[in-house]
Amino acid sequence: MSHDDFPTDHPAVVTCGLPYANGDLHIGHLRTYVGGDVYARALERLGQETAFVSGSDMHGTPVAVNADQAGVSPEAFALDWHEQYAETFPKFNVAFDNYGHTHDETNTEITQGLVRDLEDAGHVYEKAIMVAYDPVDDQFLPDRYVEGTCPYCGAHARGDECDEGCQRHLEPGEVEDPVSTITGNPAEYRERTHKFFEVSAFSEYLSGFLDRLEGTSNARNQPREWIEQGLQDWCITRDMDWGIEYPEGPSGDGSTDLVLYVWVDAPIEYISSTKQYTERVGTDAFDWESAWLEDASDDHPGGEIVHVIGRDIIQHHTIFWPAMLEATGHAEPRAVMASGFVTLGGKGFSTSRDRAVWADEYLDEGFHPDPLRYYLATNGGFQQDVDFSWEKFRDRVNTELVGTVGNFLYRSLLFAHRNYADAPIADATSAEVAARIDEAIADVETAVNDYSVRALGDAVADLARFGNEYIQHNEPWNLVDDDPDEAAQVIHDCVALAKAIAVLFEPIAPGKCERLWDQLGEDGSVHETTVAVAREDPAGALSEPTELFEKIDDDRVEALNAKLETRVAAAESETTDAETTDDADDDTDMTDVPPLSDDRISFEAFQELDMRVGRIEAAEAIDGADDLLKLRVDLGAETRTIVAGLKGLHDVEALPETRVVVLANMEPTELFGVESNGMVLAAGEDADLLTTHADAEPGTRIR
Ligand code: 2FM
Ligand code: ZN
Repeated sequence: MSHDDFPTDHPAVVTCGLPYANGDLHIGHLRTYVGGDVYARALERLGQETAFVSGSDMHGTPVAVNADQAGVSPEAFALDWHEQYAETFPKFNVAFDNYGHTHDETNTEITQGLVRDLEDAGHVYEKAIMVAYDPVDDQFLPDRYVEGTCPYCGAHARGDECDEGCQRHLEPGEVEDPVSTITGNPAEYRERTHKFFEVSAFSEYLSGFLDRLEGTSNARNQPREWIEQGLQDWCITRDMDWGIEYPEGPSGDGSTDLVLYVWVDAPIEYISSTKQYTERVGTDAFDWESAWLEDASDDHPGGEIVHVIGRDIIQHHTIFWPAMLEATGHAEPRAVMASGFVTLGGKGFSTSRDRAVWADEYLDEGFHPDPLRYYLATNGGFQQDVDFSWEKFRDRVNTELVGTVGNFLYRSLLFAHRNYADAPIADATSAEVAARIDEAIADVETAVNDYSVRALGDAVADLARFGNEYIQHNEPWNLVDDDPDEAAQVIHDCVALAKAIAVLFEPIAPGKCERLWDQLGEDGSVHETTVAVAREDPAGALSEPTELFEKIDDDRVEALNAKLETRVAAAESETTDAETTDDADDDTDMTDVPPLSDDRISFEAFQELDMRVGRIEAAEAIDGADDLLKLRVDLGAETRTIVAGLKGLHDVEALPETRVVVLANMEPTELFGVESNGMVLAAGEDADLLTTHADAEPGTRIR
């Protein structure tokens, strides 16, 4: 790895977090894959040698539990989903150079070799620990076979991760009040000997690594805190049949009947998948070893490894994985880009309630993949959460893709085709337009080096905006008769801008840009261009243009919403039918208190409310608003601005340091020009603020 700006002389590997091969993909899942694909394509446009790889995560309890429920073997179950994913990604123009899976021979061999190297280097030891065990069913309960309470934050947690609370990885034996997820039986803890990787020995290395690490800031900040709190060693084996067998080490003491923990072999697939790519294209095209192996001779520091992941797996990619790489002589990651989550209409996606826009469903509705890619890549910064609704999607498609980019391209190319098809238009692009294209190229280079996929989209939308102003201002249609040379120059410039858009927008909208490239009559493939091509004169042999992006009508949005609502209602009634109990009427006479609602919600619906403890850091009035205050609230993981109707009801100066309860996944809204990102809960007309009884830390989940 180097820290030179991209493009560098070292091969780059862009990876996407491996999806568990255990269920349908919805559009929320696509965010990191689209982000990774956009980033890899942008690196290539900069001329960086790049491999873009991923694969299906076949092992572990996330797959085994679902396979159990489906009544099939984990292998058959996972392979089936793997094949579906391998077909789905290309449909969204997510073009992995290799998409493998963790159960294949390459990954088994590389994983076992790497674990042997860890053993040989003395980084693995055995320890007897207490692990969850179901005495009725007579079996150990690894990871998702058990759930309980997180010992760190008190949230309801899975056996291996605090998925609803602090997001920590949990070691076997850590979850409190364990219950089997298969039988519902309370579990007990029994002693069992497992293998541990001594991650704690790498604390100093990891601190330095985090100082060097590029990408999104969330991938550095959280791990720094974990290191400060003291790293624990990491249990790398599990009591299961499904997984990669622990290797029989040459050292002799490696053998055990346990399998490797899924999080050992999963990231190793990044290496295996790159190797498979090299095996297919040859080392001259891409050499996996020079990307992944560190060379002590030092003018060969390994490749530029960029991991694109969801923010729930930061710990695995910034602690366990770099420690494994460092311990075994592999190149360290240069960057981790950790995305925020995607919500649907302000709430979480819910697979069980069918509350999702499924990946296949989006395509079956006849939508092109590129507008969704644009939406997911550019709607907020990469580490921020993105909300999807058909209304918001319509607005961005109609305003930006149709109204700005599509409008400029269509009006320019139509005019050019009618008046100048098949002829060179002007000798060269004007200095003004050439300089503007150079500026867009510089913006793209900066976006790549800032790891900002949103800025990549903005660079092109801004260029198209310039194009619209340029054509509008110069009115070539009024010049054609009186000043044909000037008209030709303006149109040449517009076609040059269109060509630049094709090259620079390719990472985000590869399918649409391929069509644009054809309309422009350019040779070769837009997917093979580099940014320098954006400055070359256009070929000029235009074919008749068609509009690149389609407007979405309000009726369409209504129909799509109705479809989603009907489906969710059907799924919910199935759940509530099954859950209904006879509720006796509450006959307490409480005048002035509104009757309690009969409209019950399920526990799952309640869980979709992300309520957190917050601490007000600052409070101030908002110009022009009689009732509102602008609050800065510490929510542990981040600090938010929240507008609340507290003015006149609370002493503004006394509010800082007050603990409050915040609905964190409330849809953001703008009030008096201030974006409010969450809701502070309060009771009654006097806005009696809800607070906590003891000392729950900001960010603690409320259940
Ligand atoms: O959390 C998940 O969905 C895991 N399957 C991600 C694995 S990414 C990796 F490192 F392999
Ligand atoms: Zn927790």
